Amino acid sequence: MKSATSLKLLAGFVALVLVAGGATFALSPGKNQGYAPAQPIPFSHQRHAGQFNIPCMYCHTTVEKSRHASVPAMNVCMNCHRLVKTESPYIKQLTESYDAGKPIPWIKVHDLPDFTFFNHKRHIARGVQCQTCHGDVQNMERIKQVAPLTMGWCVNCHRQPEYNAPTSCDTCHR
Ligand code: HEC
Ligand code: HEC
Ligand code: HEC
Ligand code: HEC
Ligand code: HEC
Repeated sequence: MKSATSLKLLAGFVALVLVAGGATFALSPGKNQGYAPAQPIPFSHQRHAGQFNIPCMYCHTTVEKSRHASVPAMNVCMNCHRLVKTESPYIKQLTESYDAGKPIPWIKVHDLPDFTFFNHKRHIARGVQCQTCHGDVQNMERIKQVAPLTMGWCVNCHRQPEYNAPTSCDTCHR
């Protein structure tokens, strides 16, 4: 049973690599390292998480409860910006989107290929800091992908004796 599953998994990968063809390069290690796209509103982590010391989980509420770390809904911003800095053109833009019920189209920065599985909750539960994987976000004017997010990067950490995390293929590929 176990080996059948592994075989299926391997066959899946072979198919994937074959089908992907030219696209394999797009998955090459470290492709997005250093990626720091301009966002539709220049939201600064340095200011909010650094200077004002707003806890990461005030905004990224699901990170310790689920696979995904949600990006905050606009009402979280409006808790403050209904009153704070309302004369700013960016806050006007934010308020208009909020009133129109149109979410801000934030550009996703960290993005693993669909055939991989990641789970925030398990890492947070083991005390791995956000900064270990995301860098010093509290000093970033604009979010940047600091880690390579390659398989080697994941597996190297899983192999560390202090973490002793699973390294079987189906941990991250299912
Ligand atoms: C806990 C309160 C608080 C929350 C929550 C908050 N902000 Fe802010 N934000 C501030 C403060 C305070 C400033 C600085 C105002 C100043 O410079 O006078 C600021 C500044 C800004 C600025 C810079 C405005 C300018 O023109 O200088 C932007 C843009 C911004 N916030 C966007 C957001 C967004 C988007 C969210 C939600 C994801 C958010 N903020 C959530 C308190 C908050
Ligand atoms: C006031 C709300 C707020 C706080 C506090 C906050 N963030 Fe964010 N975070 C956002 C918003 C909005 C975005 C999407 C826009 C962007 O990327 O700048 C975001 C994006 C991110 C991303 C990039 C997600 C992606 O697309 O890959 C990471 C990583 C992140 N935050 C980590 C953190 C960490 C770590 C902390 C604490 C040190 C933190 N955030 C504190 C609002 C917040
Ligand atoms: C073990 C490494 C690791 C740790 C620790 C970690 N992250 Fe992430 N984070 C990632 C990876 C990998 C992704 C991309 C996930 C994907 O594309 O499926 C990501 C994506 C995100 C995103 C984008 C939304 C999503 O879930 O794809 C946000 C926001 C984020 N992380 C915030 C945080 C915050 C806040 C913390 C700390 C409370 C944190 N992360 C801790 C590795 C980590
Ligand atoms: C800084 C070290 C570190 C990095 C980097 C890291 N992990 Fe982990 N990972 C851990 C630890 C610690 C655990 C928790 C093991 C446990 O709970 O026993 C874990 C658990 C997991 C689990 C849950 C395993 C299960 O049994 O359900 C998955 C899935 C996972 N990691 C995927 C990834 C992926 C994919 C990456 C790279 C994008 C990654 N990890 C990067 C340390 C790390
Ligand atoms: C701790 C998480 C983790 C484990 C364990 C893991 N992988 Fe991966 N794997 C990843 C991530 C993340 C990627 C995507 C990033 C990359 O291509 O480096 C990936 C990519 C791949 C790819 C695509 C490579 C490419 O360049 O397109 C293959 C094939 C693969 N893994 C096979 C395996 C096999 C076989 C095993 C078991 C021996 C395994 N993986 C174990 C996280 C993991």
